[in-house]
Amino acid sequence: MTTIQMSVRPEDLSQVQAGTERIPEAGILVIFGASGDLTKRKLLPALFHLRQANLLPKEYAIVGVARRPLGGEFAADMREGIIEFGGVEASDPLLDDFVEHISYYPLQFDDATGYAGLQAELDRIAKAKGIGANRLFYLATSPEYFAPIVENLGAQGMAQPEQGKVEVVIEKPFGHDLDSARELNKQVNAVFHESQVFRIDHYLGKETVQNILVFRFANGIFEPIWNRNYIDHVQITAAETLGVEGRGPFYEKAGALRDVVQNHMMELLSFVTMEPPSSFEAESVRQEKLKVWKSIPSIPILNAVRGQYGPGLVDGEHVVGYRDEERVNPQSGTETYAAVRLEIENWRWAGVPFYLRAGKRLRKRATEISIQFKQPPLLIFNRMASSGPCQEIQPNLLTIRIQPDEGIALRFGAKVPSAPGMTVCPVNMDFDYSAAFGKSSANGYERLLLDAMLGDQTLFSHRDGVETTWALYTPILQAWAAKKPEVFPNYFAGSWGPECSDRLLERGDHTWRNNLGHKA
Ligand code: BG6
Repeated sequence: MTTIQMSVRPEDLSQVQAGTERIPEAGILVIFGASGDLTKRKLLPALFHLRQANLLPKEYAIVGVARRPLGGEFAADMREGIIEFGGVEASDPLLDDFVEHISYYPLQFDDATGYAGLQAELDRIAKAKGIGANRLFYLATSPEYFAPIVENLGAQGMAQPEQGKVEVVIEKPFGHDLDSARELNKQVNAVFHESQVFRIDHYLGKETVQNILVFRFANGIFEPIWNRNYIDHVQITAAETLGVEGRGPFYEKAGALRDVVQNHMMELLSFVTMEPPSSFEAESVRQEKLKVWKSIPSIPILNAVRGQYGPGLVDGEHVVGYRDEERVNPQSGTETYAAVRLEIENWRWAGVPFYLRAGKRLRKRATEISIQFKQPPLLIFNRMASSGPCQEIQPNLLTIRIQPDEGIALRFGAKVPSAPGMTVCPVNMDFDYSAAFGKSSANGYERLLLDAMLGDQTLFSHRDGVETTWALYTPILQAWAAKKPEVFPNYFAGSWGPECSDRLLERGDHTWRNNLGHKA
């Protein structure tokens, strides 16, 4: 298939990068659950990238909090993480100074008596460094500690200080169904005002996800055709080649629908389908997202399918089935694959099917959105090749590659030169992120951490949004919990998932687009 590249001139780019950004006020970032992987692999590398870009305040401190009795080794471990996962050279001239801002405080999260000590420690650091009262609490613990930490911060008077700004960032999963999400919202909002709460979904930190809004709302030509009159259906795929990677106990309770569909995929869906917000500000963007989610009628159980991987070959290597993964029940009924068909009942989208699928141990790692347009009303060219992609006129397809090979491709038909008559073949216009803008070592948390420090909630979930998406999926989760699947495992690792998922699309006369990662 032919591809046309689009690119940005380096001189234009250097001007963009020299632009002025807002810098947060001095403050202390307190990371609860700091001994976990997220801190070392994502948060600290992202913070260091912000330092490199001069986007951290002059005075700041990062305090890791966890149960283990770690001391100075914590900062040393974070230094290694920054080098290993942040693409940073050990000799980076900013690294030693940055690491000096990191310290550790041991705490049992559910022991209320320990919080006075934490408060004293933060006050001591603030005084020594001239930081003032701004605090950002980042909850990266396992979810059962979210409520106790929030409650203890409140009881200790650390949530509403007299002077300064206090915010709380909460990692996913935010609840495990509607009731638990409501309960957690209640507990959090009893201590923190909603304007202080930042529920994180790391997908919204991805450049390609933010770019969906730019693509739609900073360009005039797509919006007029972005609706039921021109779009036939939309597929959103989050395919992973990885299995559960030692997270068996967590995943046993989660499953694909909870882990990825209810949050990451619904965020993608909202960006693709929301109405243009009146501004790129938290209130407007979150309102539009909520309107879309609220327009989705309940999903019939027949329109939701689940799968679990058995053993198979992934990237040429033999891998075990889910039930043989470490600390997983050998009879487990947990789904490692989920797909749904849903509709959005509003003027823009009524009647357009949206297919969402997410799975582990699939053929290829690819998160993509593909928007298939309707065929022209009358096909006047009918000389086709006898086989291959030119066998029939293919509908226009817009593919947004969220990761990897980030980019956007548009497929359209072109006349094949020198072929007899008017033979039509699909070709692509392709925008490739790294070719246009160069490779980036950012992991997405840079933007989210910076926004949280600046108090900008645009890319964070609102209480109502979280509850609305849980409301949609809770009945499916309940139905699945009530009836153990009869034929698990039902797909081989390294395949494209269970057959029942193909049948879900066949019912709508569609098929999954499986050549993901390729230009349309
Ligand atoms: C996390 C899930 O939220 O997202 C993981 O808990 C999943 O199971 C991950 O692997 C996928 O994120 P990414 O950024 O690798 O697509």
